[in-house]
Amino acid sequence: MASKTLKIAVVPGDGIGVEVMPYGVRCLQAVAQKFNLSLEFEHFNFASCDYYEKHGDMMPADWKEKLSKFDAIYFGAVGMPDQVPDNVSLWGSLLKFRREFDQYINLRPCRLMPGVKSPLAGRKPGDIDFWIVRENTEGEYSSVGGTMFEGTERETVIQETIMTRVGVDRVLRYAFDLAASRPRKKLTSATKSNGISITMPYWDSRVREMHKQFPDVAVEQYHIDILTAHFVQRPDSFDVVVGSNLFGDILSDLGPACTGTIGIAPSGNINPSGEFPSLFEPVHGSAPDIFGKGIANPVGMIWAGQMMLHHFGFTEAAAAMLSAIENVLARADLEIMTADMGGRGNTQSLGEAVEKEILATK
Ligand code: NAI
Ligand code: MG
Repeated sequence: MASKTLKIAVVPGDGIGVEVMPYGVRCLQAVAQKFNLSLEFEHFNFASCDYYEKHGDMMPADWKEKLSKFDAIYFGAVGMPDQVPDNVSLWGSLLKFRREFDQYINLRPCRLMPGVKSPLAGRKPGDIDFWIVRENTEGEYSSVGGTMFEGTERETVIQETIMTRVGVDRVLRYAFDLAASRPRKKLTSATKSNGISITMPYWDSRVREMHKQFPDVAVEQYHIDILTAHFVQRPDSFDVVVGSNLFGDILSDLGPACTGTIGIAPSGNINPSGEFPSLFEPVHGSAPDIFGKGIANPVGMIWAGQMMLHHFGFTEAAAAMLSAIENVLARADLEIMTADMGGRGNTQSLGEAVEKEILATK
């Protein structure tokens, strides 16, 4: 992949997504120039509440055809609850991408960056550096179930967990592959087989089975309750953590929360086979409370672009981009940093500082 053109659909969406996206694209263009990468960008204004107000839908009917030809979707954020209800905007855009493009991996780094204060005492940059791999299509988040005898004494509500061998094995394979590619080669599996007595023992058995194909990877498993405690007490002990949809959801909020502000966290929704585009986005939403002020932290957006390059095998360029982000954060220049990091700067000052740092690489 690293020698071909990477085709990127740019979808800024709503709110601060629109404000941070230009800096994400500029940083990618800077690194492309530096490393001679061929990146092709095409912008789309759908998947936004403004589009909804004009067209009565979040996206055009042929959105899938339009986006399928791209390798990646570089996504800002969606949602403007005062304009369009969140369930309509989210289900009409982002969740359609995740489902219909079979983005079965949700990937988040959990990395304590220089210049960022961890809410955990006594941790310094380098101490926390691991990945969370979440199953993104099945598990506890199923639509199988129903309600009976509604409004009566016998009111009955059932929602089933769905674990398929295909679904479990493919997320485990991805996580093992990732662990095998890292120096520590360690995988932690989130389980709850003491309480959830059918699906979780199944998950554990598939972990054991997959482990046979990756004998170099050290495997440990913890029940989700104590695992959340370990995230806080000894986050330095993790390398790659894999979990079902629900457990991964919880861990992928807790992990990055242990490493600082939501404004810098990125995430990937990945279709590893490449049959469909993968989507890279900041973890944060559209932040209507600060939208229009130009003060949103652009680092989450920029870092999501870095993850995208890394995913497609542009390893050197991705490493340079990560170093550039780290260098700028490490200097902690309060005139440049955004308010969420205690600074007096804005989206432009921080975004341009990272861009400049990329251009100064080597
Ligand atoms: P949010 O992430 O937009 O904001 C939460 C808080 O963090 C706010 O106080 C905001 O000002 C702050 N914040 C977020 N990003 C920041 C940044 N880059 N720099 C500085 N401060 C930042 O979450 P919230 O308020 O719950 O949701 C707002 C809208 O975004 C809703 O419509 C929600 O559905 C949507 N949303 C969309 C997501 C996505 O597109 N993936 C993810 C989360 C929420
Ligand atoms: Mg969540």
